[in-house]
Amino acid sequence: MAETKQNVILFPFMAQGHIIPFLALALHIQKTRKNCTITFVNTPLNIKKLRSSLPKNSSINLVEIPFNSSLHGLPPDSENCDALPYSLIIQLLRASASLKPAFRELINDLICRNNGADAPLCIIADIFFGWTAGVAQEFNVFHAIFSGAGGFGLACYYSVWRNLPHKKGESEDFLLPDFEEAGKIQKTQLALSMLQADGSDPWSLFQGENLPEYVNSNGILFNTVEEFDKLGLKYFNRKLNRPVWAIGPILLSLDNRAQAGKDKESGISSEFCKEWLDSKPEKSVLYISFGSMNVISLSHMKELAMALEASEKNFIWVVRPPIGFDINSEFRGQEWLPEGFEERVILGSKRGLLVKKWAPQVEILSHKAIGGFLSHCGWNSVLEALIHGVPILGWPMAAEQFFNVKFLEEEMGICVEVARGKTCELRHEDIEAKIEMVMSVKSENGIEIRRNVGKVREIVKNAMRDEEYKGSSVKAMDEFFNAALSMKEKNKRKLINGA
Ligand SMILES: *[C@@H]1O[C@H](CO)[C@@H](O)[C@H](O)[C@H]1NC(C)=O
Ligand SMILES: *[C@@H]1O[C@H](CO)[C@@H](O)[C@H](O)[C@H]1NC(C)=O
Repeated sequence: MAETKQNVILFPFMAQGHIIPFLALALHIQKTRKNCTITFVNTPLNIKKLRSSLPKNSSINLVEIPFNSSLHGLPPDSENCDALPYSLIIQLLRASASLKPAFRELINDLICRNNGADAPLCIIADIFFGWTAGVAQEFNVFHAIFSGAGGFGLACYYSVWRNLPHKKGESEDFLLPDFEEAGKIQKTQLALSMLQADGSDPWSLFQGENLPEYVNSNGILFNTVEEFDKLGLKYFNRKLNRPVWAIGPILLSLDNRAQAGKDKESGISSEFCKEWLDSKPEKSVLYISFGSMNVISLSHMKELAMALEASEKNFIWVVRPPIGFDINSEFRGQEWLPEGFEERVILGSKRGLLVKKWAPQVEILSHKAIGGFLSHCGWNSVLEALIHGVPILGWPMAAEQFFNVKFLEEEMGICVEVARGKTCELRHEDIEAKIEMVMSVKSENGIEIRRNVGKVREIVKNAMRDEEYKGSSVKAMDEFFNAALSMKEKNKRKLINGA
């Protein structure tokens, strides 16, 4: 008898920042678990896009479930957060609950067809799709949430939404009532949706339905490493009374990344980038990127440019049009950067490189010339920095990024916060001083940060070891699959005994 394949259902929210980590997880499972098949579920336009970005020989099954954005007050063909203005993101989140009947039908179909050979081993769903846990329970299928965010960041995020502690006093900072060990949080560290939440606004209503569903799940998978992210992992363990499995870092390989990015116009070739970096001394280059979702204000852009020029450090800067300009418009350096900046720093001294569109981030971060990463600290970018042992200058802009920076700076000692949010006061002298603090070979803080980031890099490497000695992340993945398999076996016995 042929061994039955175990069908793993993956279902991310419709945003690149969610789809990419799920895709990385899919490719990782495909590579490491030969007895699994993967069913990757999403809405039609996202599936279409994925089809062109998967490796040709991939065996991942892409499955669409119907969704019509026009029926939810969204512009036509809006199936991905990245195409929406901020004000409509909550609309897409709330509309995603309408996927439930179609998802339910899909699971039912997988269970019934083919003599049960396609029945799911487990459903792994997004942090925004708490409702999928109810569907899984209904069919007695093992369910886990997969968080592309880190443990600490998601714990703060979850706690703020469940408690709205900033609404309970006038003070500018507060403790999280069920997560005091996270330390003081400042109001300036709350994303706009949280800051404005009062319990009855659309975001509060969405999270008020979504987050309580977590207790119906069998556990949470985190794209993180247990050894350095214990605080947040323990929080969920305690709150939900469920296992948490730290299985990270799981990231797209270079080849798959190139594939996934190939529809983006590349601003620079990997070869040119490498050549440029090869010409610079070790740890001398600052890499600056705020992710695909973020743009900064015109005045912040000018301050940053002035800081870079004054710092006399080498840099690669992924630049986008500032807030208020069309993201796809031609870059107007003469207008948006200090006068003569490009002539002096880019063309003249060749100290800097401006990348106008997409940059080969992993290739850049893995180059020995890189000595720092000025980042919005989305968790995927953080993991890429940690794997390559690159010190971080944090500039959080949205979601749980503020908590990530707090964690990286206060708990891990590998980061310095440079700025906070998109409207903060920012002076180029301060940015320059912080660049100096992190990058200078003589800076005490810099030495300490480099030492810490070197240790973290070793921890990360060990967590992913899969030889005679298994690292914590590999073990956690084993435990997750064992738990799912044991539930499936138990159900089978129940069926036989009941028949
Ligand atoms: C697909 O091909 C690549 C390159 O030849 C190989 O490394 C990879 O393991 C293959 N993947 C599968 C699922 O067969
Ligand atoms: C989506 O709904 C709108 C409004 O009912 C309709 O005009 C349109 O044809 C639908 N699109 C698809 C792809 O079904």
